[in-house]
Amino acid sequence: MATYIVLLGPPGVGKGTQAKILSERTGLAHISSGELFRENLKNNTELGQVAQTYMSKGELVPDDVTIAMIRQRLSRPDCDSGAILDGFPRTPAQAEALATMLSEFNGQVDVVPFITAEEDVLVERLGGRWTCRAGGHVFHKTFNPPKEAGKCDIDGSELYQRDDDKAVTVKRRIAVYLEQTSPLIDYYRDHGKLVEIDGTQPIEQVTQDLLEAVKK
Ligand code: AP5
Repeated sequence: MATYIVLLGPPGVGKGTQAKILSERTGLAHISSGELFRENLKNNTELGQVAQTYMSKGELVPDDVTIAMIRQRLSRPDCDSGAILDGFPRTPAQAEALATMLSEFNGQVDVVPFITAEEDVLVERLGGRWTCRAGGHVFHKTFNPPKEAGKCDIDGSELYQRDDDKAVTVKRRIAVYLEQTSPLIDYYRDHGKLVEIDGTQPIEQVTQDLLEAVKK
């Protein structure tokens, strides 16, 4: 039976950082909706162009476009044992669509670690984040600096600051999270899937708590 983990939490709380580590340690595929959109933009696809008009403003890409993209990604063979979903679902409609999709694959959402931190922590993290062009690996100028400035430790590619990490867009992304994504906290709690994780701890400690939650 496949295992599906949904990482829930506000922008900048550490979902991407943790999803990459969990994927290495569990062997499950890492699916980041934000990274899929950014790859499409890099490859200049129609989907990428559509997504960019929303992402640059900190708004959500429409549900139908996002759900179709995730359905296609989950159908790939590297997801046969399951997946870690990072950034999806983000609305109640996406959560319902995911449940339907997974039941078609004879699976279900097994656990939803909800990573938490206050807004000032999120703003500081996003303001100092550096992302790698090739693989989307993330660093922080203070909390998780690369060994060599401007260069990814893992694949050596250039580090850049995401356009949507500008202060004004970060504010909007957090507001959109509170309006449109936070209802999923109760949704997954009511389904008995939610496990709260303190995202203000050091990265390795957050990983330990996540591994514990996943094991249970
Ligand atoms: P997306 O790329 O998913 O962005 P996000 O959810 O806003 O999340 P982030 O990637 O900003 O943060 P994160 O939680 O992954 O934190 P990270 O690990 O990088 O989405 C971007 C856009 O795409 C959306 O705004 C929307 O437009 C669109 N989109 C995506 N999915 C969608 C969907 N389902 N529906 C519709 N639209 C969608 O960490 C942040 C920083 O903190 C890093 O610098 C890191 O090094 C540092 N850090 C991490 N953990 C710690 C720690 N424990 N201590 C100290 N520093 C830490």
